[in-house]
Parts: sequence; structure tokens; C-alpha cells
Amino acid sequence: MKILVLNGSPHANGNTKALIDAFTKGAQNAGHEVVECPIGTMKINGCLGCNWCHTKGEGKCIQKDDMQNLYPELASAEMIVLASPVHYFGFSGQLQSAVTRFYAPFKPAATKYAMILSSHSPNVYEGLEAQYKTMVGFFEAEDLGIKEVNGDDQKTEAILADLEAFGASIK
Ligand SMILES: Cc1cc2nc3c(=O)[nH]c(=O)nc-3n(C[C@H](O)[C@H](O)[C@H](O)COP(=O)(O)O)c2cc1C
Repeated sequence: MKILVLNGSPHANGNTKALIDAFTKGAQNAGHEVVECPIGTMKINGCLGCNWCHTKGEGKCIQKDDMQNLYPELASAEMIVLASPVHYFGFSGQLQSAVTRFYAPFKPAATKYAMILSSHSPNVYEGLEAQYKTMVGFFEAEDLGIKEVNGDDQKTEAILADLEAFGASIK
């Protein structure tokens, strides 16, 4: 299965990246193809709400930014993993902007989803869990699970092993 990981972190070697790498290792060992998109460092604006995509654009977005590189991946991935640091109880702004741009094709092709969140504090996930679950329901897709990691030390053997096992469990 082709798995697209949307990495919302602006930190190339941050906590989110370590969790993604462990997940990817497990998923690849289980035979999946994993493509990671560094959304957190890409230039992706929020949706303009101009509705060009659903009037003249035939599902294409009028904005010519890095999102144009992501649209082909959204059209081919069978699973999407939304991975992000928690920024003020939401996704990073970069990832949230990319998610708003799903509006042009309306629904990604993926039929399976997962979410990986990294935060400083516990008990900060309620809003994102609601957004994720509502979105996956709207896409009529399957939720394969959510991993939430917090604290000062997130790159421990135990945490990374758990993420690797999660990747290996994907079917
Ligand atoms: C702008 C910003 C907002 C943040 N907001 C929260 C928050 O609301 N709750 C929380 O627990 N941690 C918050 N954090 C901490 C990050 O979620 C946490 O350090 C995370 O592990 C960073 O992941 P990264 O290394 O991939 O960037 C915030 C960090 C930043 C930079």
C-alpha cells in the first residue's frame, strides 16, 4: 500500500520527525511504500475560498504554490498519515493550511487514515481528535489509529518502538 505521511513540523530533526521515522521503518518492513511530505517547511497558503476549483477549475486549485506538488500524491496515496506537533491545540499552521486545500479535489483518494501528534503537555488533543475523526468520517475512510506523544523526552527507545510497531501493524 502507498502511504503518504504529511509531516507538519517545521523542525527537520524534531520530535515529529523521529516519530514518523519510527512509524515509517515499521511500515516499510511490513512491505508498504511510504512517501513523506515535509509540509512544515513547504510554502502552502490557506484556501482563499474563491471557489475557482469548483466553478472553472475542474477540481484544480488556482494558487500556484507548493501544494501543486502535493495534489498528485493525494490522488495516488491509499493511506494518509497526518503527523504534526500540537501548535496551540491544533495542527501546525502549515499542516492546517494544506488540509484546507484538500477542498479543491474535495476528497483525497486514500481510504485509510492515521494521526501522529507530538506535544509538550498531555491533555491537549481533544480538538484535534474531533477534527480528525470528523474529517475521516466525511471522507468515508477508515481510522487506523492515533498516536499521541508528549513530554520533554520523546525519542526514547520505548516510544520509538511503539511507533515502529504501529507502522508494522498497518494493513
Ligand atoms: C508555536 C507552538 C505552539 C505550541 N503549542 C503547544 C500546545 O498548545 N500544547 C502543547 O502541549 N505543546 C505545544 N507546543 C510544543 C510542541 O507541540 C512540542 O514541543 C512538540 O514536541 C514539537 O514537535 P517538533 O519538534 O516536531 O516541532 C507548541 C510549540 C510551538 C512552537
